[in-house]
Amino acid sequence: MKVGIVGAGMVGSAAGYAIALRGTAAQLVFVDHRPELARAQAEDIAHAVPFASTTLVSAGDYTDLDSAAVVILAAGVAQKPAESRLDLLSRNAEVFRDVIGRVLTAAPEAILLVATNPVDIMTRIATELSGLPPARVIGSGTILDTARFRHLIGRHLGIAPQFVHAYVLGEHGDSEVLAWQSARAGGLSLPDCAAQMRVALTDGLRAEIDAGVRNAAYTIIEGKGATWYGIGAGLERIVRAIARNEQAILTVSVVAPEIAGQSGVALSVPRIVGARGVTGDLFPDLSGAEATALAASARLLSDTFAALAL
Ligand code: 2OP
Repeated sequence: MKVGIVGAGMVGSAAGYAIALRGTAAQLVFVDHRPELARAQAEDIAHAVPFASTTLVSAGDYTDLDSAAVVILAAGVAQKPAESRLDLLSRNAEVFRDVIGRVLTAAPEAILLVATNPVDIMTRIATELSGLPPARVIGSGTILDTARFRHLIGRHLGIAPQFVHAYVLGEHGDSEVLAWQSARAGGLSLPDCAAQMRVALTDGLRAEIDAGVRNAAYTIIEGKGATWYGIGAGLERIVRAIARNEQAILTVSVVAPEIAGQSGVALSVPRIVGARGVTGDLFPDLSGAEATALAASARLLSDTFAALAL
């Protein structure tokens, strides 16, 4: 399988590095408006391949995306300290207007995997600009927030995060919703699991985990200017689900006809991901407060999109 990555900055290259290390794709092509950056990233990552896999890594132009099964869209500007993801919107919408047509001319069958922030709105824009069925325009959504949630719960309970099933829903951003009510570890509800593990699960601790997930990107951006390893691994995880036709359950963002009281909004819920893209949605049990927060998140995304003159 060939995977294209448009945008060879930190996020695109971290995704490429993860894909090359795992050998998720047979071929990986970087495209960037700075061709020397695409070439340098491809060469650097190609030098890691002999230690890990057989992925063929190169740089090229849009025509080199021909026959790609997945194209990751990581082009655009990133958040600066004190900027929210939504602050990036008009600049990155402009970038997508330029990029999407070129990608589809070269790779009309590709699944588009959107990573550029604000990712939910960019996914909706990519869906509109491409005219593709929503199942084939997937935003990385809250895949990373879900990983952060599982990491913090797992660390608190003393359980590996792979065995924690807990999801972050809604916007990949400030209005996201941590779905505590449906969270499970080892087949148990979190309170039952915590009781058996003899650890406390107080309201204060939940608030701490909530803040840890919600503010993770801000904290990392303060420290090193941007985030890339977590999202790079998350993008690889989505590509792997597509490449292996896994029907994996991942929190990704796609345009839905009707969700959380809004029509046509892209936001994250757990979704089935395989070779045909997203083929189903799952809706976890929510507490009243979680359902209200999800509706507010959907409304925010809907209003922000409506305010953007496309
Ligand atoms: C993140 O959550 C900034 O969206 C990026 O790490």
